Amino acid sequence: MRSAIENRVSRRKFEKEPITGLEKENIISLINQLNEASDLTMEFVEDGSGAFGKLRKSYGLFTNVRSLILMKGRKDDKDLKEKIGYYGEELVLAITDLGLGTCWVGGTFDKDELTIDSGEELVCVVVAGKVADPSLKEKIVRSATHRKVKSIEERIISDRPLPQWMQNGMKAVLLAPSAKNTQKVIFKHENNILSAQIADDYSMDLIDLGIAKKHFEIAAGGRFELGNGGIFHLK
Ligand SMILES: Cc1cc2nc3c(=O)[nH]c(=O)nc-3n(C[C@H](O)[C@H](O)[C@H](O)COP(=O)(O)O)c2cc1C
Repeated sequence: MRSAIENRVSRRKFEKEPITGLEKENIISLINQLNEASDLTMEFVEDGSGAFGKLRKSYGLFTNVRSLILMKGRKDDKDLKEKIGYYGEELVLAITDLGLGTCWVGGTFDKDELTIDSGEELVCVVVAGKVADPSLKEKIVRSATHRKVKSIEERIISDRPLPQWMQNGMKAVLLAPSAKNTQKVIFKHENNILSAQIADDYSMDLIDLGIAKKHFEIAAGGRFELGNGGIFHLK
């Protein structure tokens, strides 16, 4: 399995030291590539600390946030949220490979502190920065928000035993981040057709759908069609 999938956990406490110029260049260059492939307009912000400054919105869960990525795209992009999840998770895993910590943040930040163009929608942010070993406070937040990882059987409905490649894909899905750790994306494998869906009754659900599809594809190969219920093709 790709090591970043196994190594990644959400990090909420960062060192005061900012990321290096080289790390920043790496991140920006990947953002440019991903924007080109996806038609998104994700944007690196060197100092987004203002959006995490007020205890009221951030619930005090984050410490020393500085660099972040605005996860955004065209308002009229009908697949905006799913694409943010799909391409954004590629970015999160690449930042993990740089040895930096990350966290997807959908709710606990102050949107008004961040500027975007009219015509764009800011779906969420990803914070990124230097991290030390997890602190006690982080461990407490983590155990409160990350109570358990569901099993493969809870995440896929199948009318036959899963072939090895599909088990590999599902193992990577189990390690995917999800809003409030709800792990709601469900895979279906019926009559030899594999698809991925989510209830879509919460504003972050379609982001989670994109993230889960990305994890599956990294481990198993192949490609899902866009959309809730999108069908998988092994190429
Ligand atoms: C779309 C999305 C939105 C999230 N929003 C927040 C948030 O607002 N605040 C926060 O502390 N964590 C947020 N998280 C992080 C999740 O709580 C975390 O991914 C989940 O608990 C699983 O833990 P792990 O990422 O360490 O595996 C978000 C994750 C996702 C995927």
